[in-house]
Amino acid sequence: MLVTQLFAKDLFAGKTVFVTGGGSGINLGIAKNFAALGANLSICGRSQERLDGAAEELRALGAQVCTAAADVRDFAAVEAAMAKSKEQFGSMHVLVAGAAGNFPCPAEKLSSNGFRSVLEIDTLGTFHAIRAAFEQLKETHGSVTFISAGQAFIPYPWQLHVGAAKAGNDNMMRNLAMEWGKFGIRVNSIAPGPIANTEGMKRLMPEGMEEDFKSAVPLGRFGTVDEIGQVACFLASPLASYVTGTVLVCDGGQNLPGSGMWSFLLAQAHKMS
Ligand code: COA
Repeated sequence: MLVTQLFAKDLFAGKTVFVTGGGSGINLGIAKNFAALGANLSICGRSQERLDGAAEELRALGAQVCTAAADVRDFAAVEAAMAKSKEQFGSMHVLVAGAAGNFPCPAEKLSSNGFRSVLEIDTLGTFHAIRAAFEQLKETHGSVTFISAGQAFIPYPWQLHVGAAKAGNDNMMRNLAMEWGKFGIRVNSIAPGPIANTEGMKRLMPEGMEEDFKSAVPLGRFGTVDEIGQVACFLASPLASYVTGTVLVCDGGQNLPGSGMWSFLLAQAHKMS
């Protein structure tokens, strides 16, 4: 269902939403849902070419768009991107800190630099985003949404680095919710599950195993970027005006401890008996 059939079409009219990593994947999906509801969009990412393509998609939905090439690991670049956004649209109302990096790697093979890269993009990058956005959010009594993952609360094989980063982010989120409540700023996380047609899924799902993986999700299917976008719109909207410091898990039930391999083995055992 389209987001415009679920929420008022002008829900974010006159509001500015800044999305880090907004040039592709789940983050672009989030940006598009806000665009469809009338928001101005500011997106940053490492590749200007990718941002230009994303900006076209957002403009086609009626949004005004500001793009800035910035690696979230570079604080000065993030500050400059947010200053550019402020100049174009005024202070932001919503920050979505979505920029992330991932690759599967066994712990004993992970290099120091590999671990550092993911921690720097996911955790330091998220800190940079909230730190640079604070004055704008304070002015608008805005909201912040982190893009987390099930790895933050369930250990996944070959994902030690991502688990460390996302668990750190979720704790940072709770810390901020506590500290910034007095400024009227709400801070939450979304933990997406397996979302179809994303870079993350391409990297993590072994080829040819799509159907097996789907059957391990309680809802029996992968999610869509729009389903994450809709949840992001909900969290940033007045519908969630008393929601802060929480992780909203949007994963079809995939991270429930009884799902996945345990259910699979039980089903096999019952078939045999
Ligand atoms: N397995 C093991 N180590 C890996 C790896 C893999 N598949 N991919 C990268 N690394 C290691 C590199 O070997 C390097 O370590 P080294 O110097 O000890 O050899 C380190 O990670 C940094 O790699 P590099 O490619 O130089 O980093 P980068 O800063 O250009 O890219 C990444 C960062 C590695 C996170 C890259 O995957 C990326 O840019 N990802 C963004 C997109 C993404 O992951 N989207 C999905 C989000 S869910």
